[in-house]
Amino acid sequence: MTEENVIEIHNLQKTYDKGKIKALNGIDLEIKKGEFISIMGPSGSGKSTLLNMIGALDRAEEGTIKVAGIDLMKTRDLSEFRSQEIGFVFQMHNLIPNLSVLENVEIPMYETRVKSEEMRRRALELLEAVGLKDKADKNPTKLSGGERQRVAIARALVNHPSIILADEPTGALDSKTGDVILNLLKSLHSKKQVTLVMVTHEPYVAEMADRILHVLDGKINNSS
Ligand SMILES: Nc1ncnc2c1ncn2[C@@H]1O[C@H](COP(=O)(O)OP(=O)(O)OP(=O)(O)O)[C@@H](O)[C@H]1O
Ligand SMILES: [Mg+2]
Repeated sequence: MTEENVIEIHNLQKTYDKGKIKALNGIDLEIKKGEFISIMGPSGSGKSTLLNMIGALDRAEEGTIKVAGIDLMKTRDLSEFRSQEIGFVFQMHNLIPNLSVLENVEIPMYETRVKSEEMRRRALELLEAVGLKDKADKNPTKLSGGERQRVAIARALVNHPSIILADEPTGALDSKTGDVILNLLKSLHSKKQVTLVMVTHEPYVAEMADRILHVLDGKINNSS
């Protein structure tokens, strides 16, 4: 792995249903530290599967995948890698409804050794960054869709991940709220120099990235 590549993938293959479905069919991909990448492609082409592989939510069968210096095919326990290096933002923010906004942001730190006062300080600082400090004690069910997505972004950043994986982060939002979320992600990307990999169906959203990858039938078609 070269110093500047934070993600290196070669001939990655992932099947479902005992090999019947080839979700990834030989992905080759290198992403540099601090790059902002958009991933586009038709429904079912393998975009979410690829993000899940990068974030070690699931394992591939063939090929190599190294992320932040860790060989994801060979490392047994990836929970620490996941909580330390990766921030996930999904289309459906999946906040926990019976915890407060503040507690939802703190969740990724529960697995770490961060002390409770420090957890609170960090969570509040991020809620301030996403413009929701005044909602810290509220229940997420009381927030709008865009506000919930901003909470999810704060949560994704709380362990200072080197990589943010965003799977259609604006897919469930109206375009105005979506733009707020996108600008937030983009400014966090440039301020904190995290690597941002984002799946989107919207060409104008994809254009915001340094590079656009097109996934088709589990392969990367071309990049621009
Ligand atoms: N858990 C699973 N079990 C079985 N098949 C799956 C599973 N997850 C995905 N697939 C299949 O793998 C292929 C790739 O799915 P994936 O979710 O990566 O597509 P996608 O590009 O993210 O699509 P979309 O734009 O609709 O979100 C599809 O054929 C899908 O049906
Ligand atoms: Mg998907």
